[in-house]
Amino acid sequence: MASLLAAAGVTALAGTAEAAGTLGAAAAEKGRYFGAAVAANHLGEAPYASTLNTEFNSVTPENEMKWDAVEGTRNSFTYGAADQIVSHAQSRGMKVRGHTLVWHSQLPGWVGGLAAADLRTAMNNHITQVMQHYKGKIHSWDVVNEAFQDGSSGARRSSPFQDKLGNGFIEEAFRTARAADPAAKLCYNDYNTDGVNAKSNAVYNLVRDFKARGVPIDCVGFQSHFNSASPVPGDYRANLQRFADLGVDVQITELDIEGSGTAQASSYTNVVNACLGVSRCTGITVWGVTDKYSWRASGTPLLFDNNYNKKAAYNAVLTALGGTGSGGGGGGASCTVSYSRTDDWSDRYNGRVTVTAGGSAISTWTVAVTVTSPQKVSTTWNGTPSWDSSGNVMTMRPNGNGSVAAGASTSFGFTVMKNGNSSAPSVGSCSAS
Ligand code: XIL
Repeated sequence: MASLLAAAGVTALAGTAEAAGTLGAAAAEKGRYFGAAVAANHLGEAPYASTLNTEFNSVTPENEMKWDAVEGTRNSFTYGAADQIVSHAQSRGMKVRGHTLVWHSQLPGWVGGLAAADLRTAMNNHITQVMQHYKGKIHSWDVVNEAFQDGSSGARRSSPFQDKLGNGFIEEAFRTARAADPAAKLCYNDYNTDGVNAKSNAVYNLVRDFKARGVPIDCVGFQSHFNSASPVPGDYRANLQRFADLGVDVQITELDIEGSGTAQASSYTNVVNACLGVSRCTGITVWGVTDKYSWRASGTPLLFDNNYNKKAAYNAVLTALGGTGSGGGGGGASCTVSYSRTDDWSDRYNGRVTVTAGGSAISTWTVAVTVTSPQKVSTTWNGTPSWDSSGNVMTMRPNGNGSVAAGASTSFGFTVMKNGNSSAPSVGSCSAS
């Protein structure tokens, strides 16, 4: 009987796979990738690489494939840093998004100095050389990035390409790209196009025209840089769907959402749900691994904090993807932490650690806080501390009842005597049961 069950169980188990515990695995179970923008110069930092390798299954070079990085001097191509990212990804089975071929920004000065005919030659040569170098290694290329203006005009943005080659430069770039690597998906990528608005309408009309005339285009990237002035739009899913209905894939290409705690987490949930709600939404890329190196670091917009701890936003994304680790897949208790300095004096400061439960209620939690010698913790409140032999590592547990509802928070505080060193404590990850 046992062997019969085991034999029968092979297919049965495959059909009811356990909920995945990482972003990449959970997205893969939904037929999608989950990527991060990566900077080559951080790959040597152990927690950066291990977070990337564990959680993500696609990478986008954050700057290393841009025109100024690969062809700073005309016809002299430098691929070192980009190659480093591509080989890191390939040796670990991760996909690579190519970013970006034709863009007004991070464009070396020599390009803007060319007259029209020469500029056309240089643009086509750049696309051809870079795509052929990476042929077969890139799943999707951002062929043209940010060609439209913000605001209500729906007009093209001024750039050397637009100003000298006219509207046709986008079509020419896509045709050149198709010839250079016919297997790569060719995307148009932009920001402030995430909801239905004048700018996204202009992109929509471009894509509709390309599809009608047989100009090669396979995908549209929605950068999705959000903050309080530019929140996740209510019609995000509908907007992705109308592009998909034109016959292109859609991808969320540079996601980050400024904020913290449950508000940030719920915005991330909305983004993941929008993508999952559109069958042609093939993947999500967040614009960085950790808040520490985000281009908008002060807005703490990513899924891992400065110490590579998983944030509430991480748990929300994993839960929305149907994974486990936050209780979303029927899994266990989890929690995340955030830290702030609430008061500061010359000789001491007060710190507060906020503990936020994941997708399930928790009954207790533990957080380690480490101060740097000769600092000393002199007082604590709203928690029960214990100490290691050095006296520098404080393990904090609840004071009495440790229950915290799903997504809710509690906090504890402490005073650190500086003894000449004002540095912040290192706050370890939270564990819960
Ligand atoms: C940003 C990078 O994150 C920064 O490191 C760099 O200094 C500027 O560019 N839209 C894009 C990305 O398409 O390439 C930009 O990346 C962010 C906005």
